[in-house]
Amino acid sequence: MTTLPDFRLETHFSKWEFKAKYHMTASDAESISLRDLLAMATPDQREAFEGMWLGYTETWGAPDLRETIATTYAEQSAANILCFAGASEGIFAANTVLLDKDSHAIVVTPNYQSHETLPVAICEATGVPLDPEDGWSLDIDRVAAAIRPNTRLMTINFPHNPTGTILPSDRYEALIALCRKHGIYILHDEIFNGLGQTATQHLPFIADVYERGLSLNVMSKSYGLPGLRIGWIACQDADVLSKMERMKHYLSICNSGPSERLTRIALDNRQALLARNCAIVDENLPKWEAFFSRYPDLFDWRRPDGSCMAFPRYKGPEGVEEFCRRLVEESGVLLLPGTIYKSDLGPTPPDRFRLGFGRTGLDAGLAALDAHIMRNRA
Ligand SMILES: Cc1ncc(COP(=O)(O)O)c(C=O)c1O
Repeated sequence: MTTLPDFRLETHFSKWEFKAKYHMTASDAESISLRDLLAMATPDQREAFEGMWLGYTETWGAPDLRETIATTYAEQSAANILCFAGASEGIFAANTVLLDKDSHAIVVTPNYQSHETLPVAICEATGVPLDPEDGWSLDIDRVAAAIRPNTRLMTINFPHNPTGTILPSDRYEALIALCRKHGIYILHDEIFNGLGQTATQHLPFIADVYERGLSLNVMSKSYGLPGLRIGWIACQDADVLSKMERMKHYLSICNSGPSERLTRIALDNRQALLARNCAIVDENLPKWEAFFSRYPDLFDWRRPDGSCMAFPRYKGPEGVEEFCRRLVEESGVLLLPGTIYKSDLGPTPPDRFRLGFGRTGLDAGLAALDAHIMRNRA
């Protein structure tokens, strides 16, 4: 593997996430306190958490937790689940286990950077762009054209970071059929599944519908609990799972035991947590839409299909990079300029920015954004 480049998005967040007054670009839903999570626990779960032994835990993840995770799928059992320290570790393990220098990978652009830079560090990779003129959707014919005899992995992510797109189900089925025909694994980053406006229709998990599918999920986003650092991959392929388990020995070795107990409590209450987070999206989206309707000359807005993110266009003369820079430096409002999402595998739109609407307290941030724009117009 060649040296990995800086992770632009995470580098930007390292600088600003805890410094900016108004975080308006988060991809995670509003979190809750440890106290509030423990209030959902049964007496036995509370005792198990407080009395737990703080030694190493099983690399695969606690057996009862894997069983609970399996119930979030239609067809999976605990044996098909491998836990990770967040989604990021799962992305690393999947790419390093499935790819070698002779393989080829296909990724969509724009993307969460590790989905691109990890395959690129290992082997040849082709980017297939999502098309803004087609609702940011994926053209399956373009994927077919990118396939080579040595293509081993296709990575997708719906709802998609940063556009919030959900692939139409007929295209999802066509993609699976295509990959099945060529023996290609699909790593589906499904970490925003369940999040969006209430009653949003999400795709079936890839592990349930494809024998070479790797379903990546985590507590970080739809559940709003990134501090737990518990993620997992569900997969029907026992050999791939076992190789990733051995890769994990080089990474975190095992999960944090207390986090495993807390994740079990959260997943036992998953419907309530997801309903609460979707309700936050329901409340926030119309506020953003009202904001954009005040500035038709500055922004092009399209309502996303799912998640708590969107990727609108900024039309001001100074460009989106400068707009976002001044916004955070002068007014403390953090957005992500689309340049963070630039790809080495093809052009990405230069005039977009990511916003997030899964957090509470949006009004104060929108007021600061309004004030910033008015000040600059005066
Ligand atoms: C699409 C996507 N995948 C993976 C991750 C990493 O998730 P985690 O913080 O659980 O490692 C993120 C984080 O923003 C993401 O947006």
